[in-house]
Amino acid sequence: MTAVLSPAVPFTVPPFAAGAEAAVQRVLRSGWVTTGPECAAFEAELSKYLGTEAGGQPHLVTVASCTQALELSLRALRLDPGAPVLTPSLTFCGAVGAIVHAGYRPVLVDVDEATLTPSPETVAAAAARVGRMAAARAGRPAAIVGCDLGGYPVDHRALAEAAGLPDRRVIVDAAHGPGGDVGRGAFFATCLSFYATKNLPIGEGGAVATHDADLATWLRSARLHGMTRDAWRRYLPGGSWRYQVAEIGYKANLTDLQAAIGRAQLVALPDWQARRAALVARYDAALRAAGLADVVRVPRRHPGHAWHLYQVLVPRRDEISAALADAGIGTSVHFIPVHRLHGYRQVLDADEPGAVPATDRVADRLLSLPLYPGLSDAAVDLVVERLARLLAPHPHNGGEPC
Ligand SMILES: Cc1ncc(COP(=O)(O)O)c(C=O)c1O
Repeated sequence: MTAVLSPAVPFTVPPFAAGAEAAVQRVLRSGWVTTGPECAAFEAELSKYLGTEAGGQPHLVTVASCTQALELSLRALRLDPGAPVLTPSLTFCGAVGAIVHAGYRPVLVDVDEATLTPSPETVAAAAARVGRMAAARAGRPAAIVGCDLGGYPVDHRALAEAAGLPDRRVIVDAAHGPGGDVGRGAFFATCLSFYATKNLPIGEGGAVATHDADLATWLRSARLHGMTRDAWRRYLPGGSWRYQVAEIGYKANLTDLQAAIGRAQLVALPDWQARRAALVARYDAALRAAGLADVVRVPRRHPGHAWHLYQVLVPRRDEISAALADAGIGTSVHFIPVHRLHGYRQVLDADEPGAVPATDRVADRLLSLPLYPGLSDAAVDLVVERLARLLAPHPHNGGEPC
């Protein structure tokens, strides 16, 4: 079948604020483009934004990506090699890769089908499994990496309790979080992403928000090779070329070019979030009006949602997404569970894939519909109208409930 080029509804289009271009120019003309004053200003402004929205994590350190934010935070925990770390299987593979790269063992947590995120019950089940794993020397989980999938504000405190873990062993993957209730609670680290598709897109970039002053200090050095003084400060008037390295670090810093874009984007974020919420309401109403409420299931909502994704569960997902693509409508899937990815299977215990049955039940029905601030109301109506046509009862379908 040939693709219909018009009307085209891309799955995602990153918004760029009016001030973004001028911000880039400002940095290009400043004579300093890598980590420096723009990063410091972005950190302060983002920290303030998160503080008002989420009850505050006093320290914020930018890094190259959310994946780096997760890995560095995990390394900073200084767990024993091979320590068991709980993680949903239904998450971005890179988040589980960070656990592996930090030298630990990922232990999969199943999801509650209603929210698509772990529940205290599924976490408790995974923690009990750790106790039965011969290779897990500690006998119980050492840490948990939670994920606010799609922007759903997971109760990480409740999950930590179910795992028998204190807040200082909780790392929140809030890649989908900015704009929602990000990082409530005194967790060790809340990790953010500024990847191109995210609510606060820069293109690439990440950050760690934390209550832990020692973690923040360590991250500032670890993100730049472990040097005691970053390059910007060394080149300031009166600065010195001298530095020391107490602990060999990483190359994981954000640049001033990125930070300047981030600062401009942050100004627009509240308006973008309002638009995302309005689009979600429109999808909800349009799906109801099209009589799809029984066939297309949406995950449970909760106040503080960041509306990063509009996820649905549909029957015949692969066929539906291919047909939507033919109609010029982009979709995606968040995510292929990691236990279905070959490289990850090799690092998991043999019985891990069998321990997440609810994840397997939803995995083949998950579909993410277009959702971004520039999406028009008409585009939402078109997506739902196409979905309704594809899901209408016919001899091969019977409008089977999802
Ligand atoms: C849930 C989740 N965690 C982590 C990441 C990694 O973010 P980054 O690309 O900034 O490393 C992503 C990015 O897609 C994500 O969706």
